[in-house]
Amino acid sequence: MGILEGKAVVITGAGRGLGRAYALHAAAAGAAVLVNDVDHGPAAEVAALITGNGGQAEVSTHSVADAEQAAAMVGQCVRAFGTIDGLVGNAGLNYQVPPWDDDPARIRELVEVNVLGVLYTGLAAMRVMRERGSGVLVNVASGSLLGKPGGAAYSASKGAVASLTYSWAADLAGCGIRVNAISPLAWTRMVEADEVERARMSRDLTPALAAPLVTYLLSDLSAGLTGQLIRLRGDKLHIVRQHAVKEPVLTSPRWEVADIAAAFEHDLVPEPPPGERWKL
Ligand SMILES: NC(=O)c1ccc[n+]([C@@H]2O[C@H](COP(=O)([O-])OP(=O)(O)OC[C@H]3O[C@@H](n4cnc5c(N)ncnc54)[C@H](O)[C@@H]3O)[C@@H](O)[C@H]2O)c1
Repeated sequence: MGILEGKAVVITGAGRGLGRAYALHAAAAGAAVLVNDVDHGPAAEVAALITGNGGQAEVSTHSVADAEQAAAMVGQCVRAFGTIDGLVGNAGLNYQVPPWDDDPARIRELVEVNVLGVLYTGLAAMRVMRERGSGVLVNVASGSLLGKPGGAAYSASKGAVASLTYSWAADLAGCGIRVNAISPLAWTRMVEADEVERARMSRDLTPALAAPLVTYLLSDLSAGLTGQLIRLRGDKLHIVRQHAVKEPVLTSPRWEVADIAAAFEHDLVPEPPPGERWKL
């Protein structure tokens, strides 16, 4: 019996790339999968692969970027499979542009999918999960949240996903709902389109390599694990350290510019610039 036997999960953006690999792996582990993607063809192909192998799957073409459609997506899962045990907020957009050439309409579209999409689908899912007292949310962040040259809007959107993961994990800890985020790395259409990623990625990093992490997080094997950002890159699995406030560099009842300057002159610990951190 598979470790997701009897569970119903929604995977957004599952028509291609990483989402497709998560859907196939979860189904092979026994889950009934709502394969969501705005592109019907690829989503239908993934669902057909699952049902062809004796699994359970339905297609949803709802857009995560629309709150009503996100709620309808979760509703479809509940109608089709009786409930929703897990949601993988994977649908995402990315593009590469110097910030001074970025375009407000493009920024808005990216934020609507990458941030609001995770929020809208997550809210709809957690409402059902709270009533039953259990559930798992897996949000998809990215290593770019540490700062990515030419990808400011994308990296900001993924930082937002990490922050909302930490907040939801705290909000939902008493409701039996676990919330984690992942930072995968795999050769997909998104990477093909991204010069910086393309230059540093090996074709050996297939989406299938990252899929067992999602199945693990959706399963009861990860019971007790919540509020974490987990990075999987090829042969390495990491927990990403959360932002934390360091010890004060100076304590003072009032502040003069010169005191602040002096404190930093003596106590500032140099860190690599964000672009360098992202390459690690
Ligand atoms: N590929 C990587 O190395 C990598 C690294 C870090 C994070 N990620 C993240 O993983 C996720 C999947 O990326 P990928 O590389 O597989 O990309 P991809 O472009 O291959 O797949 C993304 C899928 O999302 C779908 N989608 C887009 N907008 C949607 C919407 N509004 N509603 C529903 N579906 C929508 C697309 O149709 C597409 O099938 C993204 O969130 C991405 O930011 C990818």
